[in-house]
Amino acid sequence: MDSSTAPTTTPVRLTPSAIVTYLDQYVIGQDEAKKVLAVAVYAHYRNCDNAHAASSRMTKSNVLMVGPTGTGKTLMCETLARAIDVPFVTADAPSLAQTEYVGDEIEAMLQRLVDKADGNPDRARRGIVFIDEVDKLKAAGSGGRGASGEAVQNALLKIMEGAPVKLRDGRYVDTTDVLFICGGAFVGLDQILARTHSFGFISTNEGDNQRILDRLNARVKPTDLFEFGLIPEFAGRLPVIARLTDLSRGMLVRIVTEPRDAIFRSFQEIFRAEGVELEVAQTVFEQMADLAIEYKIGARSLRGIFEEMITPALYVVPDRKDIRKVVFRSLFEDAEFVCA
Ligand SMILES: Nc1ncnc2c1ncn2[C@@H]1O[C@H](COP(=O)(O)OP(=O)(O)OP(=O)(O)O)[C@@H](O)[C@H]1O
Ligand SMILES: [Mg+2]
Repeated sequence: MDSSTAPTTTPVRLTPSAIVTYLDQYVIGQDEAKKVLAVAVYAHYRNCDNAHAASSRMTKSNVLMVGPTGTGKTLMCETLARAIDVPFVTADAPSLAQTEYVGDEIEAMLQRLVDKADGNPDRARRGIVFIDEVDKLKAAGSGGRGASGEAVQNALLKIMEGAPVKLRDGRYVDTTDVLFICGGAFVGLDQILARTHSFGFISTNEGDNQRILDRLNARVKPTDLFEFGLIPEFAGRLPVIARLTDLSRGMLVRIVTEPRDAIFRSFQEIFRAEGVELEVAQTVFEQMADLAIEYKIGARSLRGIFEEMITPALYVVPDRKDIRKVVFRSLFEDAEFVCA
């Protein structure tokens, strides 16, 4: 493509694999979802560039992220937006349905996107909008005031396709190049898939074929989403589906320690500022992971568990200049202070 015709704000210079490499620094596991997302994003921005250069455009591929709560859906989108340096906003589908004027809420959402783009509508046009909990839309509007879940879907599908939205100050933001990512837990989807998919009976001994079969069986069809109250037009505008899985014990341990902004690292930093070394035994991370599994909210409980453990030590340390090191050997024992 002739680079002189490319808009100066073209964000995506990263290839899909480079996007995944960036995501890997912050998001543990979910490799399949990372790949799907990276390819979709790359293709989306390529498509935008081509449309500008050659007035040819493929249909837009917005993304649906399906996965249990606290497994990294929002985190992945936030990190993605940072990787490719585009403005990013999130909205909550059920709360869109709680208002009487969905249009106003959507306008406010795009206004936030413009704000995130430092008021630059050209930059905002290329942003990412993440709409969470679309699987709750069915229940959202039934009865009560507010718009129905279906009305919200109808309002959203217009902007997902691409439409000019008028902001309060009278300016317009065109959403044609905005990438929409919807998220939801879709609890029970697996049972629906097991019921509606019929590839399972083909038996084979070859690992490769089995992998393809597994993939086919795991594929979510638009019709599978109807049971959650998604209308066909809405489901049809989310052709790319990225699935996140439950986090294993091992992944939870890694989440506490490995990401660049990991909980453990950030507390080590805090102790270091007091001139104190923080040591936590591997067992402790594993105990934390076990608790998190019990709490059933994915990785979300890990920070709270860690803070609860660390607070008594953080209370003491600033007054005790003699402490050089704080050691945790078990989640259920007090910290050990090593003094000068
Ligand atoms: N795969 C992961 N790698 C690293 N951290 C994670 C991962 N999954 C979750 N976390 C941690 O848990 C927190 C919650 O995750 P996140 O907000 O992405 O969940 P979610 O999938 O969007 O859940 P919900 O469906 O409830 O919105 C994150 O801020 C992050 O600290
Ligand atoms: Mg979320």
